[in-house]
Amino acid sequence: MLSFIVEPSLALHGELRVPGDKSISHRAVMLGALAEGVTEAQGFLEGEDCLATLNAFRAMGVPIQGPAAGRVTIQGAGLRGLKAPGKPLYLGNSGTTMRLLAGLLAGQRFDTVLTGDESLNRRPMRRITEPLAAMGARIETTAAGTAPLHIQGGQPLKGIDYRLPVASAQVKSGILLAGLYARGRTCVTEPVPTRDHTERMLAGFGWPVPRSGNRVCLESGARLRGCAIDVPADISSAAFFLVGASIARDAELLLRHVGVNPTRTGIITILRAMGARIELFNERLAGGEPVADLRVCSARLRGVRVAETLAPLAIDEFPALFIAAACAEGETVVTGAAELRVKESDRIQVMADGLRRLGVAAQPTPDGMMIRGGSLTGGTIDSHGDHRVAMAFAMAGFRAEGAIRIRDCANVDTSFPGFVELSRKAGLTIRHDKE
Ligand code: S3P
Repeated sequence: MLSFIVEPSLALHGELRVPGDKSISHRAVMLGALAEGVTEAQGFLEGEDCLATLNAFRAMGVPIQGPAAGRVTIQGAGLRGLKAPGKPLYLGNSGTTMRLLAGLLAGQRFDTVLTGDESLNRRPMRRITEPLAAMGARIETTAAGTAPLHIQGGQPLKGIDYRLPVASAQVKSGILLAGLYARGRTCVTEPVPTRDHTERMLAGFGWPVPRSGNRVCLESGARLRGCAIDVPADISSAAFFLVGASIARDAELLLRHVGVNPTRTGIITILRAMGARIELFNERLAGGEPVADLRVCSARLRGVRVAETLAPLAIDEFPALFIAAACAEGETVVTGAAELRVKESDRIQVMADGLRRLGVAAQPTPDGMMIRGGSLTGGTIDSHGDHRVAMAFAMAGFRAEGAIRIRDCANVDTSFPGFVELSRKAGLTIRHDKE
């Protein structure tokens, strides 16, 4: 069992580039594999989740070079060029890979089986298999609606006009990827906007996905052409440092080349409402995605009531945000974020348990949490194998009065390889410990 030990730390300084965006890295491999011609990605996230995607396509016969220093070269197989993998595709901890591949593989001529680790095989999959079934796909789940998924190939798919019951970019994307193989038009309406990397990247590969309000549509019969992709640094990884620098007594940090797609910047909006000092500059477009450098300094945070419409725009950042709330003056109230209960762990319960271990008044609710900011003690936290929970509690080291042991941290490598080294370089006193 791998743990992090974090000692009380004061200062956070320097210039960092956190690893590449996980969502964009997955999609680069998927669309690159289905395209005609070569796709070259730089800044690719060499984390286990994206490597699971990469290995799945290798197993389906797609030649992929790399990753080496963030560079990946994919020789596209074309829409109909994937081959049957000889065995079930093991996707580790990666929900994005499973839900997007469910859609992409529903339209193939061959059968596939998708499976994952204990956490992934507990997560809800009917949200994707049901709309795919309405398109004509045949996918079997367990009786509980979970993986392994048995996908039967050779099914003709037809377009669908689907209204998402929960805001989910994974489900939206899985349906759009099935739509590449469907007859007619495939449309998805989301209750509130979610990350739109699939739509942007499909357009970059030459298959437009026009949006009208909260509805996106794609027509069948277009083609994907390989291209160059510049993957920005992941704002979800930068988020830990935005919080760490905001709560540290002495901090000034520059985060380079961070993706600031407006469907992902909820964390900046919420932290600023709490009084954080975050500045964006050098705003530019990199391969169809907005990118900026971020400067963040120590600040006095105050509690806020987080608007529910912001939840999907900050969905992966709540573990970090809960730590910010624990260090803020007054009460923070989060509602409308029930999705947190079905992430890599039940992030509402697991974060509330951890905060209480550190002496914080945290009250979990069915769809969020109430946190009264105050002082943090040291203590032992169980991350339940959830990468973002582990990294969020590491940042508590900037405020805790004693050492924090965070257990079960190996999964940090799914999204942020090198987290400990980079944090240490910036000023956090953190080390690994094998129990
Ligand atoms: C993702 C969508 C989100 C997010 C996940 C990545 C994506 O999940 O939590 O980390 O890349 O599409 P949901 O679609 O379940 O909200």
